[in-house]
Amino acid sequence: MERVDKILAGMGLGSRKEIKALVKQGAVVINGVICKDPGDKIDVERDEVSVSGRMLRLRTTYTFMMHKPAGYLSASRDDRDVTVIELLSEEHRRLGLFPAGRLDKDSEGLLILTNDGPFAHALTAPRRHVDKLYEIRYDGVLRESAEAEFAAGIAIDGGETCLEAELCRTAPGEALVTVHEGRYHQVKRMIAACGGEVTYLKRLRIGPLPLDEGLLPGEYRELTDGELSALRAACGIDREESR
Ligand code: URA
Repeated sequence: MERVDKILAGMGLGSRKEIKALVKQGAVVINGVICKDPGDKIDVERDEVSVSGRMLRLRTTYTFMMHKPAGYLSASRDDRDVTVIELLSEEHRRLGLFPAGRLDKDSEGLLILTNDGPFAHALTAPRRHVDKLYEIRYDGVLRESAEAEFAAGIAIDGGETCLEAELCRTAPGEALVTVHEGRYHQVKRMIAACGGEVTYLKRLRIGPLPLDEGLLPGEYRELTDGELSALRAACGIDREESR
């Protein structure tokens, strides 16, 4: 159960103050009864709410994609560095979004921001193996056997062996890399294990979801219902497990 003003503000119907004003005008109706108190608690699964005569599809979870720019931390807060949360508008900051998965500070590209804990967990859980596609540039010369080593499961520093992955060299010093897990600095460490040094890294895709190239670095938008369903299916969770 959550406060009706909080839910309606989260749904973009106005600031908390504006929702309070709507309640005062008698415009908010809960299960057929005019709401008198913006602090009334409602159950998004069961209760029916209309505002100014329009019935709403209630929800409390939100998922966005961001084109993360280099220079920002994939974190909710940090004492020293700017975080991706600081790129959100004030309205969207109120939703309690956090990054589901990480991109290094100097990396860019597709980052998922959500306030849906179970979904974030499913998306990032190592055993779910949601594919991620990266475009990279690197210095140095990769061993000729690099593609085969990636395909076999490459050993990286620290003694870890990665799941099989794909390396596709697209031009001198440039490649596409697909990984099926999310280890710390994974792509950089895999390339280093083959003799190269990553100088640029951009995530292009997570599972079925490509980065919307219409988003400039720093821009973001909410996922469509279709995108969200496809992403949830890719990590093996049902669309209705959270709302
Ligand atoms: N692998 C890396 O090394 N860095 C990233 O930001 C993402 C994947």
